[in-house]
Amino acid sequence: MKVLFYMANAEAAAWLHDFARALSQADLREWQPGDTAPADFAVVWRPPREMLAGRADLRAIFNLGAGVDAILALEREQPGTLPPNAPLIRLEDTGMAPQMAEYVTHAVLRYLRRFDEYEALQRERRWQVLDPHPRDTFTVGVLGLGVLGAHVAQTVARFGMPVRGYSRSAKQVEGITTFAGEARFDAFLDGVKVLVNLLPHTPDTANVLNTRTFSKLAHGAYLINVARGAHLVEADLLDALASGQLAAATLDVFQQEPLPPDHPFWQEPRITVTPHMSALTLREESVAQIAQKMLALDRGEAVGGVVNIERGY
Ligand code: NAP
Ligand code: GLV
Repeated sequence: MKVLFYMANAEAAAWLHDFARALSQADLREWQPGDTAPADFAVVWRPPREMLAGRADLRAIFNLGAGVDAILALEREQPGTLPPNAPLIRLEDTGMAPQMAEYVTHAVLRYLRRFDEYEALQRERRWQVLDPHPRDTFTVGVLGLGVLGAHVAQTVARFGMPVRGYSRSAKQVEGITTFAGEARFDAFLDGVKVLVNLLPHTPDTANVLNTRTFSKLAHGAYLINVARGAHLVEADLLDALASGQLAAATLDVFQQEPLPPDHPFWQEPRITVTPHMSALTLREESVAQIAQKMLALDRGEAVGGVVNIERGY
C-alpha cells in the first residue's frame, strides 16, 4: 500500500512519524513537488492542486480535518483538482466532539449565569448581583446536527435549558427539539436565546449568520460561532451588538485567520475571541482513525466520513 502525505506546517514531521508507526506495512512518503509516482492513498491538509490533479491511481483522499471547505474550494476554483474516482474522506469526531462540547457548554453557562457581565463589573470594582436569566426560556439553538452538533446539543441539554437543533434532513436526537430544511429555519430560530453554529461551510451555508437570522432570535440573544468564519457577516454582528439585538458573541473562527491586529472584534468588549481552538485535531486519534479506514478499504470494506462533493460536506 503506497501512501502520500502532505501538510504544510511545522507539525508535518510528527504526523509522518505517527503514520509510519500506525501503517508499518505501508510505503509512506511525504509528497514533494514533481512527485507523480504511484500512490493508493493520500493524506492531506490544504494540499496544492498539483499533488492530486490527474492522479487516476488514488483509491481515496483523507482530509486531516472535519471540515472539507478548503479542499472543495480548491476544486471549485480549479475543477479537476480532485481525481473523480477517489472518495474524499474527512475526520469523524477523533476527539473533537468532547472538546467542542466543553467549549460550547462553557460559553452557554457563562452567558446563562452572566459571568461575562460579572467580569465587566469586576473591572469596575463593583459589587452587584444581577437578576439571573430564567433557565426555561434560555433556549439554545444548534445549527448543524452532525457528528459535532448532535453531541454538543445533547451535552448542553443536560443542564436543563430547552435545546433545539437544525439540520438539512430530518433527525431524531433524544432530548432535542429538531427542525429540518430551509422551510423550518425561521421556526427553529424563533425566540432562540443562544445560537450555536456547527454547520459545515458550503455554498448553501455561507453568510448564514446575518442580520435577518439575528432578527428572528430573542432580543438580547447570544451567538457562539465554532464552525467557520465564512458563516458570519461580520458587519451584521457589530450592528446587532450596537442595537442590542445581540447581547454578546463568542467566536472561535473568522473570515481571516489569524484575526488581524486591527480587526474591530479585538476591541469589542462583548465579543470573546479564541484562536480556532474549540476542537483541536488530535494526532493520535486522527492517525488511528485514518489508518483503520485505509486498512478497511484495502480489505474492500466500506468506511464512514465519505464527503458528498455535490452537497459540499
Ligand atoms: P457533519 O457531521 O457533516 O454535520 C453537518 C451538519 O450540518 C449535519 O447535521 C447537516 O445536516 C447540517 N447541514 C449541512 N448543510 C446544511 C444546510 N444547508 N442546512 C441545514 N443543515 C445543514 O459535520 P461535523 O463533523 O459535525 O462538523 C461541522 C463543522 O464544524 C465542520 O464542517 C467544520 O467546519 C467545523 N469544525 C470546527 C472546528 C473548530 O475547531 N472550530 C473543529 C472541527 C470542525 P444533515 O444531518 O441533514 O446532513
Ligand atoms: C477544524 O476546523 C476542522 O475542520 O477539523
